[in-house]
Amino acid sequence: MSDDRHAAAISTLGTSGVARARIGSAASERASRAWWDADADDYHRTHGEFLGVESSAGEFVWCPEGLHEGDVHLLGDVAGKRILEVGCGSAPCARWLASQGADVVGLDLSMGMLARGVSAMDQAGGRIPLVQAGAEALPFADESFDLACSAFGAVPFVADSAQVMAEVARVLRPGGLWVFAVNHPIRWIFPDDPGPRGLTATLPYFDRTPYVEVDDEGVPTYVEHHRTIGDRVREAVGAGLEVRDIIEPEWPEWLDREWGQWSPLRGQLFPGTAIFVTRKPA
Ligand SMILES: C[S@@+](CC[C@H](N)C(=O)[O-])C[C@H]1O[C@@H](n2cnc3c(N)ncnc32)[C@H](O)[C@@H]1O
Repeated sequence: MSDDRHAAAISTLGTSGVARARIGSAASERASRAWWDADADDYHRTHGEFLGVESSAGEFVWCPEGLHEGDVHLLGDVAGKRILEVGCGSAPCARWLASQGADVVGLDLSMGMLARGVSAMDQAGGRIPLVQAGAEALPFADESFDLACSAFGAVPFVADSAQVMAEVARVLRPGGLWVFAVNHPIRWIFPDDPGPRGLTATLPYFDRTPYVEVDDEGVPTYVEHHRTIGDRVREAVGAGLEVRDIIEPEWPEWLDREWGQWSPLRGQLFPGTAIFVTRKPA
């Protein structure tokens, strides 16, 4: 179960246990919305500075390994492009893209997370549109974006990630890239622990039963859905996308920071993040 870095969310939602259980789209969305609303303050206290939430133009950090879009250019040239960020949270990535000349829309399920983005923009000046909606039903017209991206937003938390792939493929213009970062699927088999306990496999890689935290009544309060690498590729290809690369960022020598289950100890041994670079054929 989540630890005291999430004390406010655990206490607000009355989380009292873990139930590995099948859970559908609506219940997953309900749990995620409640969780991210309740955890927004703690999330930003712990990660806001690393993510550049308070910096005047935002930052685009793909993952706890610190990969920055300004260095890796996974989205290519973004100036003048219309871009959708899925699961934008407080939108540091979307704001950074806007600072590079893109026309960006950020989408997230949680008003608590989006509100942090609004207050960051109030401080810094400038506005990008933020939309509150779930990633399985994007409220946008077909072929309305040149590019789409997600840094751990939505994809690991939805029951039907194939539907997210289909929705992003629908709203992308032909030739558009969809680049999304998720927990590396290999992490599923280890306990969520940055220390030595997190080095011993305890769960089958092939067991897709979701990780669900519940309250005393059994109501889900936090959900994560697992897919294998093959599942992720099949879901993207099934949506008509080409998979161009799967990036597994290495833990950089300069980074001694822990982020939940991410740590130098584990990062030096096996990947924590997988970034899928996909493209809608022209
Ligand atoms: C780990 S945070 C990442 C946020 C942001 N990309 C960042 O780097 O800080 C995950 C985000 O996904 C959002 N999310 C979870 N499920 C979602 C869904 N079904 N649709 C849209 N957003 C969702 C959460 O509200 C949360 O803001």
